[in-house]
Amino acid sequence: MKGSSYSGYKSFIAFVVMACLAAAALAGNFYDDMDITFGNERAKIFNGGQDLSLSLDRYSGSGFQSKNEYLFGRFDMQLKLVPGNSAGTVTTFYLSSQGAGHDEIDFEFLGNSSGNPYTIHTNVYAQGKGDKEQQFHLWFDPTAAFHTYTIIWNSQRIIFMIDNIPIRVFNNNEAYGVPYPKSQPMRVYGSLWNADDWATQGGRVKTDWTKAPFTASYRKFNADANIIGPNQKSTTSDNNKAWSTQGLDAAGRNRIRWVQSKYMIYNYCNDITRFPGGLPTECKRSKFL
Ligand SMILES: *[C@@H]1O[C@H](CO)[C@@H](O)[C@H](O)[C@H]1NC(C)=O
Repeated sequence: MKGSSYSGYKSFIAFVVMACLAAAALAGNFYDDMDITFGNERAKIFNGGQDLSLSLDRYSGSGFQSKNEYLFGRFDMQLKLVPGNSAGTVTTFYLSSQGAGHDEIDFEFLGNSSGNPYTIHTNVYAQGKGDKEQQFHLWFDPTAAFHTYTIIWNSQRIIFMIDNIPIRVFNNNEAYGVPYPKSQPMRVYGSLWNADDWATQGGRVKTDWTKAPFTASYRKFNADANIIGPNQKSTTSDNNKAWSTQGLDAAGRNRIRWVQSKYMIYNYCNDITRFPGGLPTECKRSKFL
């Protein structure tokens, strides 16, 4: 009796330990996953690899990139943005391939003067061509706490999500001649830099360097993705992964409608003056752009 409950207790403890290890593995470790690429000591990995912070002063910003390259996957990152007067600063979390004709999937967070909202800027580049911007305000203060920003990238579509709420879908419309990122592996990048020539209120509001250094925090990076690299024999089949076919269900469609009707502040697909020759093809095809 005693023995069996003791062994039950032991297996319970073993289960808890394994669950914690699994959770830790899932959350990733910045020492294992990322390289600091610029800014020297302005970029810091700490707390045993669980946290990463970037800072910006008048001499430099800072940034990191993933050690791995990926071809399709689900990429989650928690971010807490520069608080207070963040005007002129841009914090990023994005995927990009390298070289000419590159592909890129962007989240950029454009700072603002105190009390004014951040702008979340999204874009997709395929074979070197972008010009697919959508911008949003947020339904929360992104500097007060960590929130989860997600890019789902599969062969059919790209979904941008915030706290699991889809804000944007970019569909694969290759059948109609629209380039789609699907063959160039990408790395994950994060950076904090000064863009006061354009970022805040069209460049009118400049960075207040008396408030420097500015700091943004990252944690809980997770890539559930196909890793491409020298140690990888071939692209692993993504057929059994939820992200590989993920689209929007009814709840997702309701949520994206809510976000796009209340929080979208710019959509290239509505910018007729920018495309006098006619809106891009995908704008006519997709309901949720
Ligand atoms: C900053 O605040 C202004 C005023 O509320 C707003 O129009 C703008 O979209 C905000 N974001 C940026 C990046 O300028």
